[in-house]
Amino acid sequence: LMASIKIPKISELPSLGHPLENAKRAAAYRAVDENLDVYQHRVVGIGSGSTVIYVAERIGQYLRDDEYRDYVSKFKCVATGYQSKQLIMDNGLTYAILEQYPHIDIAFDGADEIDCNLDLIKGGGGCLFQEKLVSTSAKIFVVVADTSKKSPRRLGSHWVQGVPVEVVPAAYTRVQDDLLNLLGAKTATLRQGGKVKMGPVVTDNNNFILDTYFGDIDDPKKLHDRIKALVGVVETGLFINNAAKAYLGSPDGEVLIT
Ligand code: 5RP
Repeated sequence: LMASIKIPKISELPSLGHPLENAKRAAAYRAVDENLDVYQHRVVGIGSGSTVIYVAERIGQYLRDDEYRDYVSKFKCVATGYQSKQLIMDNGLTYAILEQYPHIDIAFDGADEIDCNLDLIKGGGGCLFQEKLVSTSAKIFVVVADTSKKSPRRLGSHWVQGVPVEVVPAAYTRVQDDLLNLLGAKTATLRQGGKVKMGPVVTDNNNFILDTYFGDIDDPKKLHDRIKALVGVVETGLFINNAAKAYLGSPDGEVLIT
């Protein structure tokens, strides 16, 4: 009996009916096809956001393919939050915790802004801490996004929400004050729920997020270090010197690889 191959070819995929979704899917599928070593990789990091949905979907397609099933069924997938955990389970993949698998072979994640050095701003979805934990625990970290995430100048010039900073709730006004008065943030706004007076957004780690705006960032590493040194800061959304590659999709299915 011939093995039945069910992985859809990227070139033959039906349109998703929305240009941005086509762009995200193109980037994610290409990134998986070109970087996931089905025979060697065992622990895979799955990030958060709307682009990574297609990463998990693609890996799920490998799982259902006769040729790869035996290998992919042995994969352990480490999540970056509750959404990510759901994506892993929804696609039939095996969820595992980082505590047990601290060495990740490859991790895929989205980004809010990507500069020419592959430094990133992340945390639009509030998952920055676990995303950084997973991406820095991975031997290879691959970024998937649509081309609109590419920074036209320096980091900070594009992503209007600025740099998210995860803070311990009891320290948030103190950190807010330090960000504005010591570090020169133009704004440092507590991320709130959908409507006015809905209260703070609480992260998967039971912390708050301050959305800080610094304008164009001259030295992302230095800014990260200075924010991180404030008492009460858990992590920043500046991901420096961490990504190996970025796949940036266009609505027509073209993918820019940097
Ligand atoms: C969540 C993130 C996401 O990866 C980032 O917001 C990109 O999301 P999307 O793929 O939906 O544009 O950092 O904290």
